[in-house]
Amino acid sequence: MNTSSKFINPYPFAILLLTLLFSSLVAAQQAAVASAHPLATDAGLEILQQGGNAFDAAVAVTATLAVVEPYSSGIGGGGFWLLHIKNKNRDVMIDGREVAPLAATRNMYLDKNGEVIPGASINGPLSAGIPGVPAAIDHIATHYGRLPLSRSLDAAIKHAREGFKTNAHYQRMASIREKHLNATPDAAEIFLNDGKAPKPGTLIVQTDLANTLSAIAARGADGFYQGEIATRLVSSVRQHGGIWSKLDLSSYRVVEREPIRGSYKGMQVVSAAPPSSGGVAIMEMLNILSGLDYEKRTSADRKHLMAEAMRRTYRDRAEYLGDTDFVNVPVDRLVSIQHANAVASDISPDQATPSEQLKAVAAAVNKATDTTHFSIIDKDGNRVAATLSINFPFGSCFVAEGTGVLLNDEMDDFSAKPGVPNIYGLIGNHANAIEPGKRMLSSMSPTFVETKDRYAVLGTPGGSRIITMVMLAAMEFYQGGSATSMVDLGRYHHQYLPDKIVYEPGVLNDDDMQILFERGHELEELDDTYGNMQVLVYDKRNNRIDAASDKRRNGSARVIEFTD
Ligand code: GLY
Repeated sequence: MNTSSKFINPYPFAILLLTLLFSSLVAAQQAAVASAHPLATDAGLEILQQGGNAFDAAVAVTATLAVVEPYSSGIGGGGFWLLHIKNKNRDVMIDGREVAPLAATRNMYLDKNGEVIPGASINGPLSAGIPGVPAAIDHIATHYGRLPLSRSLDAAIKHAREGFKTNAHYQRMASIREKHLNATPDAAEIFLNDGKAPKPGTLIVQTDLANTLSAIAARGADGFYQGEIATRLVSSVRQHGGIWSKLDLSSYRVVEREPIRGSYKGMQVVSAAPPSSGGVAIMEMLNILSGLDYEKRTSADRKHLMAEAMRRTYRDRAEYLGDTDFVNVPVDRLVSIQHANAVASDISPDQATPSEQLKAVAAAVNKATDTTHFSIIDKDGNRVAATLSINFPFGSCFVAEGTGVLLNDEMDDFSAKPGVPNIYGLIGNHANAIEPGKRMLSSMSPTFVETKDRYAVLGTPGGSRIITMVMLAAMEFYQGGSATSMVDLGRYHHQYLPDKIVYEPGVLNDDDMQILFERGHELEELDDTYGNMQVLVYDKRNNRIDAASDKRRNGSARVIEFTD
């Protein structure tokens, strides 16, 4: 027997083993940020490089987006920050959603005939809820961060004081809201150029906002909700027809909430709890599809079933969802398999169910809301998915004098006319009626999805379409998709009413269109794409992060290495 032929030289294997071990140690030190603006992504990464964790970076990104993406979010707005604290294996949702002022009333946007006053819940300070972002960033820095709040606000203050350059998207957003930005001198002065949407490359300096951010850096949330800034906010709001009081500001509180949890064929899902409808709706859709062999179907079949799941889920959203601190939302039932099975029982494989055949309820309508999302993973495996909003582009278009704070118009997310039949003859939605101190229903859906081998941190802006975008991306992840394929995926949407599938240009092929049309679906190709998704995918097998920012807009996704 020739033993020499069986001799295995151990050295190459030892070297291979050491290389694998070393590369996995090095790779474990990756971190990443994906956000809607390169300056915000850079601000987050700088904080990570300065020894901050994902939560410090989230504060930096939130504050920087508030400065450089004023049409999407801001310290005059609110949001949801979904945190994963690695060493505690804990997920928590920081609810910094705006609340209705204490003087708000159920019919405050109706005229004497009970009709909605056009624009009243959209433009000017009467449309603004009490902001949650300043309280949320203080809360996150204090309870979860490693660095002082002031350090994490440095970049935002610098960009506000020294200015940032606008891009074509800024010009588009400012054009949409030009008339209303011109309605208050501070807003026009800061965000427009001689009353016009500024050309790309214009420097926007926000000295008052830098001072307000500095007050928050020095005094935490009290720098905003108490003292001089609070006095200015209230006085300016009231002078221009708003109803805020000092008590509204001093009594604002962030709420920590248990996220919505569920699973789809072994994929774990963690998403936003009420007052967002996002997590509940995503789980309901996933549960419906889990009984329908979704993955094995043809392209047209999948779209048909997805649209039917969306239709039924958005009906439930309209009927049941609201602020759980004020109304009884049957969350456990809505995210249960039993409910999904009951809801799915009348789905036909080859026929669309007209929405009017489902139990009637007033529907959410998609409005031109603007919102933002960012995703962060730090080198220790902490994660943040955060979706933030001031609602319409540039929110209410109202800047409280001398503060630089652009106020949200999030009051429009309430149901303005509950209990009154709408043009479809449907009953209004009491769960989301206006009440003092109540949080308005949201669609924002910061989400974590996780399989045995990978996890993803994701979310997007897009009004009522947020939920279906995150849903489609989650299914793409489940089927092995990368961060890039999750954001690139063509988008389509059904929201119960109006009863149609809307889709991005070119997303349905000829076969899809023919088959869906024959099954009775109304189809509408949109003029433009939508959404601005930010995704990070962490591969547990090699400890690498795959990052993607939506190619439809101008964000930035970057991965950095920590080698020491
Ligand atoms: N304002 C958008 C949302 O909260 O869904």
